[in-house]
Amino acid sequence: MDDADGSGSVASDSATIAIYSVKGGVGKTTFAANLSWCSAQDGHSTLLWDLDAAGGSGFLYGLESSGSRLAEDVFSRDRSPARLIQRTAWDKVDVLPADESIRALDAQLVRIGKRRRLAKLTEELAGNYARIVLDCPPVMNELSAQVVRAADLVIVPLPPSPLSARAFDLVVREIAGNTRRHPPILPVLSMLDLRRGLHKQAREANPNWPTIPYASAVEQCAVQQQPVGAHSPQSPAAQHFARLWRAIEAKLADRRR
Ligand SMILES: Nc1ncnc2c1ncn2[C@@H]1O[C@H](COP(=O)(O)OP(=O)(O)OP(=O)(O)O)[C@@H](O)[C@H]1O
Ligand SMILES: [Mg+2]
Repeated sequence: MDDADGSGSVASDSATIAIYSVKGGVGKTTFAANLSWCSAQDGHSTLLWDLDAAGGSGFLYGLESSGSRLAEDVFSRDRSPARLIQRTAWDKVDVLPADESIRALDAQLVRIGKRRRLAKLTEELAGNYARIVLDCPPVMNELSAQVVRAADLVIVPLPPSPLSARAFDLVVREIAGNTRRHPPILPVLSMLDLRRGLHKQAREANPNWPTIPYASAVEQCAVQQQPVGAHSPQSPAAQHFARLWRAIEAKLADRRR
């Protein structure tokens, strides 16, 4: 259904959501794991696809690394992703984990030379999953360009600072430079602590951006190896992730109109 540069999934009600930034440590993996859980709670069968060799998404779901080096074969050797996908302890959330082999992914994508390799794979997986969430590494390369071509929506976590809007503009420019038609991009203030003056200013400067608070409940995700909605369902952070998920669904619905 798409042209060579267009984005979008094949099944009309399925969607691929990329969590992306050029910056490291901004909350991408935390968003990816928690939003996947919210998606499943919303009734969607959801795949969390970890594209970062650091492998944080699987860890946040308590999955053990299998020690295999096969994740990249999905791209270069047509290995079926189905055989690598792992179930989690929660209904409707599965994980396609990363492993060491993913470090070679960018070079392999350049070598393969198929600009929509990732998009084709997500389109195939959309037969089984209504929502695919991509946890991306902080890179600007062929992999990030493929992520943009595969995504129906790009979520950009931004730690609050006077430079948040500028940081967001840089990401938008990077994304827009890669493709003629790029998917909608949703900035989200992550790790927001309104007791801090600069955070308050960033919030006031961008009042329409969704927010995720800085919270020990979120940090606990890595300790409990569970999404915040599972281990602290009453926490403000869990409510913020649920609200962000509703904003994501509203954006996806807008796009289909
Ligand atoms: N809202 C939050 N409140 C408190 N801690 C947070 C919050 N979001 C993320 N963190 C913590 O910040 C650190 C970085 O988060 P995360 O790993 O999600 O970032 P990332 O963008 O995926 O990093 P990388 O670029 O290295 O993949 C983690 O230790 C995480 O627990
Ligand atoms: Mg990460």
